[in-house]
Amino acid sequence: MSARNLSRRALFTGGAVVAAGLAATSSCGPDRPAGTRPHDQPPHGIEPFHGPHQAGIATSPQTHAAFVGLDLRPGVDRAGLGRLMRLLTDDAHRLTQGRPGLADAQPELADLPARLTVTFGFGPGLFAAAGLEHQRPSARLPRFDVDRLEDRWSDGDLLVQVCADDAVTLAHAVRFIVKDARDFAAVRWTQRGFRRTAQPPGQTQRNLMGQLDGTVQPADLARSVWISDGPAWLRGGTTMVLRRIRMDLEKWDRADDAAKQFAMGRDIRTGAPLTGEREHDEPDLAAKNGNGFPVIPEEAHIRLARADDPSLRILRRGYNYDEGITREGVVDSGLLFACYQADLDRQFTPVQKRLAASDMLNLWTTPIGSAVFAVPPGCRPGGWIGETLLA
Ligand code: HEM
Repeated sequence: MSARNLSRRALFTGGAVVAAGLAATSSCGPDRPAGTRPHDQPPHGIEPFHGPHQAGIATSPQTHAAFVGLDLRPGVDRAGLGRLMRLLTDDAHRLTQGRPGLADAQPELADLPARLTVTFGFGPGLFAAAGLEHQRPSARLPRFDVDRLEDRWSDGDLLVQVCADDAVTLAHAVRFIVKDARDFAAVRWTQRGFRRTAQPPGQTQRNLMGQLDGTVQPADLARSVWISDGPAWLRGGTTMVLRRIRMDLEKWDRADDAAKQFAMGRDIRTGAPLTGEREHDEPDLAAKNGNGFPVIPEEAHIRLARADDPSLRILRRGYNYDEGITREGVVDSGLLFACYQADLDRQFTPVQKRLAASDMLNLWTTPIGSAVFAVPPGCRPGGWIGETLLA
């Protein structure tokens, strides 16, 4: 049997001896040195895989994303999870470095990594399956009044977040990884998103409401995003919230610019706060207009979303979604709101509570999906994602 024909799931599910052998030969081994790529192609857009943190979080957002929520199959325990995560780490490592996965039926699709990143997150059910409930981060998301959550976009035991600057690269990576996972886990949901491609990196992107979205971000990821205390296994990791937020764009079309700007507290065209001139001007929340009302309204999104302590800011890395169009010409679209923070209870939850209570933007937006994951740290060459918990 040739190596190509050998089922790689058989390799990884076949026990520790094989898995150990593979780890030594390939799993997280050193990246292919420069100049030894197949077909003499120059490396193009390769994001590093190894390091203290997983890629795909601090990484400048790629233009395409797929978030896949998986449910573990009955009977998958800690040992099974270890095999699964070794296998998926190996896939992610190879594909992100521009090399095909083991027994990849379309190896040529791996040639253009296009800044591919693969990021894994652990949902609540994974800890129960592994018998490691005591290691599960204690923070939970409360119920928010604005939520109209649907099961088909919510929860999940294991998250695979795949991002790339090329849609074909992304599709191939998602398919390969999900296929390798399927003995262990079933797909619960897949959520695909996109950002602008024809825009220089570094500029804030517009979302489908036309707003500049992503202006205010944490300055110090070491404090705001990466976990440095609490359970040892999670240090260097983070927590992630993924919210699927539907936009009523028909209704938004009917709002005038004044309403749109009031809702946000920023100018729709320039993104400047209503008290300033340029996008990055600091908003003056105390400023009043001639009638004594706040220039940035009490219910404006940026007033309510703001963290008084800048170290408590969350890292937002959202993607637009657009799932087609009805016979009447109405689109099903919105925002895949993805954010990362060291402390869910101190950073995300208070903001979401304030927004749920009185954000003017709620007139046009509805959260229809919600999931939360503990994102383990990255791994060194020879290691695997999740080893700090599952090994
Ligand atoms: C469809 C839903 C949403 C839309 C269209 C949206 C849009 C925006 C826009 C345009 C801004 C101003 C520019 C910027 O700083 O990026 C902003 C700021 C912000 N949003 Fe949202 N947002 C949405 C949902 C959320 C949610 C669910 C959260 C968190 C629970 C959130 C948290 C924030 C934060 C923390 C800021 C920065 C506030 C500041 O410090 O100035 N947003 N959002």
